[in-house]
Amino acid sequence: MSNDADALKRRAALAALEMVPAGALLGVGTGSTVNLFIAALAANPGHVRRAVSSSQASSALLAAAGIEVVDLNEVTGLTLYVDGADEATARRELIKGGGGALTREKIVAAAAERFVCIVDERKLVTRLGRFPLPIEVIPMARELVARRLRDGFGGRPVWRSGYLTDNGNHILDVHDLVIEDPVALERELNQLAGVVTVGLFAARPADVLVVGTASGVERR
Ligand code: A5P
Repeated sequence: MSNDADALKRRAALAALEMVPAGALLGVGTGSTVNLFIAALAANPGHVRRAVSSSQASSALLAAAGIEVVDLNEVTGLTLYVDGADEATARRELIKGGGGALTREKIVAAAAERFVCIVDERKLVTRLGRFPLPIEVIPMARELVARRLRDGFGGRPVWRSGYLTDNGNHILDVHDLVIEDPVALERELNQLAGVVTVGLFAARPADVLVVGTASGVERR
């Protein structure tokens, strides 16, 4: 990551921290932008004491920051979920999962009253799909799903070989998809036997997009 990109991500992360009420039960996503957000939490001890995490990587960082990581099953709801994205549109529909944590991210997002997505301006697109769409699959179904993606959707799935998700599953990164209706495509892909989670976050988009730009921060 270049220093420039890092600076824009940090801007978004710091702006998101301002949106977190003191004492909030927070959901925390995964990725380099979120890591900067966790660093900002660490620099403000006591502002947030408990959080639900979307990955083992974020759990480790939260614990190191002195924030108790709680099981989603132990809580009834989250005030806020803060996470990054690989692509975002003006409608706040997202592609996520570049870091492989999409399943837990989708679960934590679903549990949150409000989803604040933090991105740098390079992540903004008019149409989703330039970034290959990550899909988490049950390992035994990987090739079956890959064939369906090629034959039924015109995609070019590439197995993220050697990588296992926190749930023990495989990831297909699907190139060349034409995503005209993200909500419909998310629904259709979710129906394929063997698919665990699709990295489209469109049926439940972000509620707020916090964008770090060269000139400051934009909230959408
Ligand atoms: C993790 O699985 C992803 O969904 C990340 O949120 C996404 O890839 C953004 O990551 P960066 O902040 O590292 O770009």
